[in-house]
Amino acid sequence: MPTFDRLLATDLAGVALVNPVLLAAGTCGYLDELADAIDLARVGGVVTKSITAQPRPGNAFPRVIDARAGMLNAVGLANVGVEHFAEHIAPRAADVPTVVIGSVAGFSIDDFVTVAAAMDNAEGIRAVELNVSCPNVHGGAEFGADPEALAELVGAVRPVLAETRLFVKLSPIAVGAPGMVEVARAAIRGAGVPAGPNRRTGADALCIANTIPAMAIDVRTRRPRLSNVTGGLSGPAVHNVAVKLVYDVYTSVTKEAGVPVVGVGGVMRWEDAAEFILAGASAVQMGTALFADPRSPLRVINGLRRWVRTQGAQSISELVGTVEI
Ligand SMILES: Cc1cc2nc3c(=O)[nH]c(=O)nc-3n(C[C@H](O)[C@H](O)[C@H](O)COP(=O)(O)O)c2cc1C
Repeated sequence: MPTFDRLLATDLAGVALVNPVLLAAGTCGYLDELADAIDLARVGGVVTKSITAQPRPGNAFPRVIDARAGMLNAVGLANVGVEHFAEHIAPRAADVPTVVIGSVAGFSIDDFVTVAAAMDNAEGIRAVELNVSCPNVHGGAEFGADPEALAELVGAVRPVLAETRLFVKLSPIAVGAPGMVEVARAAIRGAGVPAGPNRRTGADALCIANTIPAMAIDVRTRRPRLSNVTGGLSGPAVHNVAVKLVYDVYTSVTKEAGVPVVGVGGVMRWEDAAEFILAGASAVQMGTALFADPRSPLRVINGLRRWVRTQGAQSISELVGTVEI
């Protein structure tokens, strides 16, 4: 098990992390597939690939391509479905030597509730992360682009979670203020009654953000490079967009509400992670960087430790949101 690191230890909505660097959903397998490449005890946590109520083959290939400053993917939520996950994968979560967060996706509120309830039953899953960048079969729009639909979704999932924390990963489709800020407000407000004493009706933490809708075209064949035509952009190209979203949401909503934010998008080097921290994130996730080098989180963690020391802080949490404007 990891040793305590005073400078980097982070409390994320009641979940104790050895450091604030997590591996992002869909980029590190279901659980511990990267364990051969990186000692998982040294990262803050792993987020599972998004799990849906039914198994999904995902989109046709090619569904992951490189872009000039990152990647485009249209994996289409390929996964084994919640039954297989609950029976064969989730029971191993308790043996993973770091915090496991279960990513939940769906096309209706019932889908999300079903998968979140199964995750809540798994001993080793400390939090669920709702991937709300999915079209709602009822309304058509993404849950993450519709504050009312999102509040209803969060309010429906909350009561099925006992000790498991509820994180919501916002979609950058609501990019720019007030869009993103309104969506963030809805996510932490939720709907309905709190599940227990001192429990929120809404999210315990927000992850900002998922990939940005994008498209690439092969100019020789004049065909889209992804079989799905469009996909999600990730990597360095999205980093500064995500930093601004974190900053907007932190300063307008979450700082006052006391809800931590996780910065996601283009963390390749420690400086990218530090930027997110200064903008208001309490932790970060890395995805695209793992495809280039699965050990890159270790360099980010070491760089952050040196940075905290040189900033004269006792703990990285002191630096959250301290960008000087
Ligand atoms: C190949 C691939 C698959 C992904 N699958 C998921 C997924 O299943 N669920 C999810 O919430 N995000 C998924 N994402 C988005 C990442 O978790 C992350 O939000 C995004 O890539 C931005 O971070 P990055 O720039 O560090 O990659 C995926 C990203 C990639 C590149």
